[in-house]
Amino acid sequence: QNYEDILVSGVESGVLTIRLNRPDAYNALRTQLLRELADALDTAAADDQVKAVVLTGSDTVFAAGADIKEMASLDVVGVMNDPRPTFWRRIALFPKPIVAAVNGFALGGGCELMMHCDIVIAGDNAQFGQPEINLGIIPGAGGTQRLIRTIGKSMAMQLVLSGEFISAQQARSFGLVSEVTIPERSLERATQLAKKIATKPPIAVRLAKEALLKAYETTLDSGLNLERKAFTLLAATEDRNEGIAAFMEKRKPNFTGK
Ligand code: HXC
Repeated sequence: QNYEDILVSGVESGVLTIRLNRPDAYNALRTQLLRELADALDTAAADDQVKAVVLTGSDTVFAAGADIKEMASLDVVGVMNDPRPTFWRRIALFPKPIVAAVNGFALGGGCELMMHCDIVIAGDNAQFGQPEINLGIIPGAGGTQRLIRTIGKSMAMQLVLSGEFISAQQARSFGLVSEVTIPERSLERATQLAKKIATKPPIAVRLAKEALLKAYETTLDSGLNLERKAFTLLAATEDRNEGIAAFMEKRKPNFTGK
């Protein structure tokens, strides 16, 4: 498929790499970019070769947010009829792991896009923020909800109400990202992690992601229930038999995704 705003790699060791590619606009998330990203992820979801996805931007910008120039032309009806929420929804529902490699700015919708990813590796030049307040708006792609669940009330309030940015080290200490590297290594490290995940049994990976994400939106009791159901379901997979047999026989497992 031909994309303009993103670059999609071939699949290598089960990993598909998607690069946001609007360098002149700091990778601002115009409608077309989000549509292309949702399309690329839908294609990746249906492709058995793809076990995990790496999402990245450039060395200096992950994404500076929604495209403010595009947003400027929308009135209230325009915002109500905006197709972008459906693209965000498709991105959120992508069932395979997404590892983000984030260098430079991850602001507004860019920070929200990062929070749609499952694991984030940040370059030490990364800056995170929700500066929407400076434009008279608020985060609109899950920022208020996902931030508070990830970094807690006080820091989420600080980011959203003041528009201040935080550093990669701060983001790591709050749990917004899991590792900080030099910028030149963030993509390599994200890819290494994605390739490792790609060697794991895919049905277990998928159910693990689903169960973990459920923790954001349910009670402990129903989350535990979902976990137990998923755990039980895995007893019906060949990969579980293979994983346990390989352990007993002291050999490497050969997972088939069945
Ligand atoms: C459109 C953008 C943009 C954006 C940067 N650019 N951010 N264009 N939308 N979000 C463009 C600039 O217009 C400029 O192009 C070029 O990218 C470089 O930007 P500069 O400002 O010249 O660079 P710099 O001085 O280095 O400052 C970088 C920056 C700043 C701190 C990232 O650009 C900035 O504050 N950007 C806006 C960040 C923001 O407010 N994001 C939240 C958006 S609202 P030209 O051609 O003009 O020189 C949002 C809502 C989400 O995300 C709702 C759900 C989707």
